Amino acid sequence: MSNTTSDDSLITTEVQADSNDDRAAAAAGTAVAARNLNVYYGDEQAIDDVTMEIPEKRVTALIGPSGCGKSTFLRCINRMNDMIEICRVDGDVEFGGKNVYDADVDPVALRRKIGMVFQKPNPFPKSIRDNVAYGLKIQGFDGDVDERVEESLKGAALWDEVKDQLDSSGLELSGGQQQRLCIARAIAPDPEVILMDEPTSALDLIVTHNMQQAARISDQTAVFLTGGELVEYGDTDQVFENPHSERVEDYITGKFG
Ligand SMILES: Nc1ncnc2c1ncn2[C@@H]1O[C@H](COP(=O)(O)OP(=O)(O)O)[C@@H](O)[C@H]1O
Ligand SMILES: [Mg+2]
Repeated sequence: MSNTTSDDSLITTEVQADSNDDRAAAAAGTAVAARNLNVYYGDEQAIDDVTMEIPEKRVTALIGPSGCGKSTFLRCINRMNDMIEICRVDGDVEFGGKNVYDADVDPVALRRKIGMVFQKPNPFPKSIRDNVAYGLKIQGFDGDVDERVEESLKGAALWDEVKDQLDSSGLELSGGQQQRLCIARAIAPDPEVILMDEPTSALDLIVTHNMQQAARISDQTAVFLTGGELVEYGDTDQVFENPHSERVEDYITGKFG
């Protein structure tokens, strides 16, 4: 494969089982659903009539060439696009069966349930411990904070490197460590959904030449192509090995993108 894109984004919904097979065996309802979703930046359309159900207890990957709308789609789910003035969202995004764009939805409360890890690491200018504990404090967590900090750092494969310097600034870490810190910060409050926007592009522990392989840790893959069109969506093995769409086949085999 000649395709060296790192454009993989992941949506993780309360994954509990340890292997893909265990997860496949578990019955799953719908965590998030987009219905006839259209997104515009001014006159430019970035998402084109996407309808898609994202199951709970699964890892769903979004792949596609740069500019196909992956980040835009992720930001619709926890209403991060609200921050972009020229962005207009049409259609529904349901979370737990409710449209997150309903007038009575508090986007801040929504983002507590739907965490996010961005492409560029963005630790707070705080200690490593306080970065990870940040969401717990907001949430009024009444459990053992140190224990949760340790579990989260272990979950993000960072604990061994930082356990003796929890009071030093998160900003002193390397780029890859900062990204793992942001993953620890996202998982600490135990959100129902985690949106990861190309999280591996900043990870120094992933050394594969073909970042698209990262999508293969997912259970399901959605392929977006230019114009914000959802062209293929199914089990990851099927999408990579036997895509229905010829355009997706071309993309995956590196003919374009
Ligand atoms: N803040 C923004 N303002 C204007 N246009 C944007 C903005 N963010 C993204 N776009 C446009 O929307 C389209 C989709 O972008 P994006 O969601 O970032 O794609 P991807 O994450 O797949 O690279 C692109 O044409 C991009 O230029
Ligand atoms: Mg993007």
